[in-house]
Amino acid sequence: MAPRFVRKLASFAPPSVRRTLAGALTDLKSLPARLADPARRGEPWAFVHNVGDGDFVAVGAQLVRHLRDHAGLRPNDRVLDIGCGNGRVAEPLADLLAEGGGSYVGFDLSRLGIEACRRRFAGRPYMRFEHLDVWNGEYNAHGRLAEADVVFPAPEASIDLVFATSVFTHMRMSGMRRYLAESARVLAPGGRLAFTAFALDADRQASEVFAFRPFDETSMAIDLRYPERAIGHQRPAIEAAAADAGLTLRASLNGLWAPPSAYDGGQDLFVAEKPAA
Ligand SMILES: C[S@@+](CC[C@H](N)C(=O)[O-])C[C@H]1O[C@@H](n2cnc3c(N)ncnc32)[C@H](O)[C@@H]1O
Repeated sequence: MAPRFVRKLASFAPPSVRRTLAGALTDLKSLPARLADPARRGEPWAFVHNVGDGDFVAVGAQLVRHLRDHAGLRPNDRVLDIGCGNGRVAEPLADLLAEGGGSYVGFDLSRLGIEACRRRFAGRPYMRFEHLDVWNGEYNAHGRLAEADVVFPAPEASIDLVFATSVFTHMRMSGMRRYLAESARVLAPGGRLAFTAFALDADRQASEVFAFRPFDETSMAIDLRYPERAIGHQRPAIEAAAADAGLTLRASLNGLWAPPSAYDGGQDLFVAEKPAA
């Protein structure tokens, strides 16, 4: 992580500039690993589309492990990845799904992220990537499609596992509600949805990592000028949104951002199910 004063200075920049600078720093840190391992030279550059710091391979593998351990990910699953970014989770998933005959569709608002994924997975026809020009105050301030109008790129009841890692932490509750409803639409009966969030409880709204401040009725943000930078949602609002979408919550695990945590992920993890017909 950059020194405190650099982060303070960068926080005054508009999101696109701040994200590009932070991405360039992540790229610098990844240089030793890229130079040491030829297999890592084709990894996407974070300054092009920044999905967060941390090691690309290690974080991707960890997220897939969470999906396996807590959301029952199987090699023959048909999966949909909401906000797939530059393919950090797609990377380890591609081999797993190849073993079992599963399939993958990922979508994101970043054209560059999606184009990079299409190039990287070009030889794997079971891996599909779609670009949707959705507005997001942090990632796509000029997007033309409102979150409320998004239709996921999959037919009804065609997916076994939908997941969103570190996406609803950048979306307001109105957008999240739409995405939960779309998840329910594309899931087959008995299918599962796994997503991460910052779930706010009365005694769990601030920590050494994040200090959330009131933003609207159901949510809090760390930067009120750019709320999509990091948003937390009140736990009852998350639970109500899942229920209103017709999904049954099966598990929620507190993440490391505000101890005590119940698993080794940074954000809180929720797993929901679409009731069997
Ligand atoms: C922190 S990154 C996480 C990326 C990826 N899920 C991962 O874990 O590697 C957040 C991603 O969500 C995408 N995103 C944000 N809002 C979105 C929206 N409304 N619809 C689709 N993608 C969105 C961003 O473009 C970005 O790629």
